[in-house]
Amino acid sequence: MKILLLGAGGREDALAWRLTQSPSCTSLLAAPGNPGIARWARCVAIDPCDPAAVVDLARREGIEFVVVGPEAPLVAGVADALRAVGIAVFGPSAAAAQLEGSKGFTKDLCAANAIPTAAYVRVDTAAAALAALDRFAIPVVIKADGLAAGKGVTVALTRAEAEESIARAGDGPMVIEEFLDGEEASLFALVDGPHAIALASAQDHKRVGEGDTGPNTGGMGAYSPASVLTAVLEEQAMREIVEPTARAMAAAGTPFSGVLFAGLMLTRSGPALIEYNVRFGDPECEAIMPRIEGDFAAMLHDVATGRLADIAPTLSDEATMTVVVAAKGYPGTPTPGGAIAGIERAEAVGGVTVFHAGTRINEGQLVASGGRVLAVTARAPTLGQARDRVYRAVDAIDFADGFHRRDIGWRALERVA
Ligand code: AMP
Ligand code: GLY
Repeated sequence: MKILLLGAGGREDALAWRLTQSPSCTSLLAAPGNPGIARWARCVAIDPCDPAAVVDLARREGIEFVVVGPEAPLVAGVADALRAVGIAVFGPSAAAAQLEGSKGFTKDLCAANAIPTAAYVRVDTAAAALAALDRFAIPVVIKADGLAAGKGVTVALTRAEAEESIARAGDGPMVIEEFLDGEEASLFALVDGPHAIALASAQDHKRVGEGDTGPNTGGMGAYSPASVLTAVLEEQAMREIVEPTARAMAAAGTPFSGVLFAGLMLTRSGPALIEYNVRFGDPECEAIMPRIEGDFAAMLHDVATGRLADIAPTLSDEATMTVVVAAKGYPGTPTPGGAIAGIERAEAVGGVTVFHAGTRINEGQLVASGGRVLAVTARAPTLGQARDRVYRAVDAIDFADGFHRRDIGWRALERVA
């Protein structure tokens, strides 16, 4: 199969790395790609969110299968445009991508199908949001609707903080919801219409600072599997959350196809849905890809062409850990252009791959171009060993303008200790 991969981040570098190890992948094109992806694929500079440009490229290059990495092309209808011309695509339609694009849509779907999630109200004005606060205990959670890359959420620990957050957001669609207490885990499921199967779990680290402090980011590191999501809890989450969602989307005439990423809160009364994403997580994808065995490209193609029943994903029993190296200033304004060296030294550590999240080549030198710059990933028999390897690799990298968290995996490692 000639495959086209859309996207330009660390998730896509991990997908490209794994796709090109698949026997059924004969060639890989990436749009727009990045210098890391260019190790495995030919990169073409087109806008992945422009459906006409993607269809043109796919036709010109004789592409048989398109894998969409990020959510933006999905919400823009790129998968619909490809399906309309008969090209297989891994990723949902724009209508099904609402599961990520609209928090209100997802909350209503949960309510209609008795899917466990935080109690909520949808409002459209700041005044209505303020009035709704009376119906919730403190802490309370305030979410701007629409794609917000994790930045539109405030967990308000006081009533004053909740009021300030509403005032800052102003009028506009918002969801106010009950605070859920517990540990978070990410569950990735392959979905094909009404059918769903679990693929893998991971745990992300959203806060910028060690000990989970400071502002939210896109994710500073991840590990897989998330041991807190036991086999029993994973089965419960599939049965009570993911499977009813797949059935409801299919019944509504907007069947989901692709990977559904359930952000779960493991509460005392069981898993509850925090949010859905309609794509792999970043950096969770970097942690999951090294654990997937078999022909990954063929597996995604089976999902895309309605043959989920033929698939039984097998995952390595080994553990993986990904540490994100970000540019100083992230998640605010990251220092641009910092020189990066030592990636080969890092990859000389056993089981380590360094995925590129935000890099570019400037006059022959690899430099940072973005907030999250590298996603250093290690695989090993145990999580503790994966941690030792990943930090040895991180320490081999020269990136004076970068920083990272030293405590990725702390919750799981504390549980074993
Ligand atoms: P979201 O963008 O919906 O994933 O929210 C970002 C983060 O806010 C989540 O990863 C949680 O840490 C936190 N969060 C969101 N909703 C809730 C909730 N109802 N209760 C507790 N924490 C939440
Ligand atoms: N790491 C969280 C996300 O990809 O949304």
